[in-house]
Amino acid sequence: MEKTFLMVKPDGVQRGLVAEIMGRFERRGFQLVAAKLLQVSQEQAERHYEEHHGKPFYDNLIKFITSGPVFAMVWEGDDIITLSRTMIGKTNAAEAQPGTIRGDFAASTRLNLIHGSDSPESAEREIANYFSPDELVVYTKTIQNWIY
Ligand code: PPS
Repeated sequence: MEKTFLMVKPDGVQRGLVAEIMGRFERRGFQLVAAKLLQVSQEQAERHYEEHHGKPFYDNLIKFITSGPVFAMVWEGDDIITLSRTMIGKTNAAEAQPGTIRGDFAASTRLNLIHGSDSPESAEREIANYFSPDELVVYTKTIQNWIY
């Protein structure tokens, strides 16, 4: 099963959308592997967004992601990286389709509620940035037989 890193950003936590967002991934049939509320440190933020260093929005992005608690999660499922990014919707608020998390709840490109890994390599790096290996819980849900 593929794993991904998903994070409800500070705006999502402040707006009380954690349960709504988690519920969408649960209802889709994905399996929760780990979750915690945390304050992102400056170092974690810089590691997380290192590929965007130097872009015009970089400083604002670091300031935003460290501005309040986030809800960090690891989920797993078949092809979850692609499927979860479809569920999240486009970064640009004007392009985020209704039915996606951003299309239903975000009205701004900056305050866009949720981050999702964009590749298996990013997922591995991002999971390690926020979770230690012993925080990832391995278990079996029999309902998986009704999803795959
Ligand atoms: S890029 O340049 O296409 O790779 O950028 P993109 O993948 O669209 O976005 C990278 C992350 O930066 C966030 N972002 C912004 N934040 C603040 N202001 C502006 N204008 C802005 N544009 C993009 C975007 O949400 C991405 O963060 P994550 O956490 O991955 O969603």
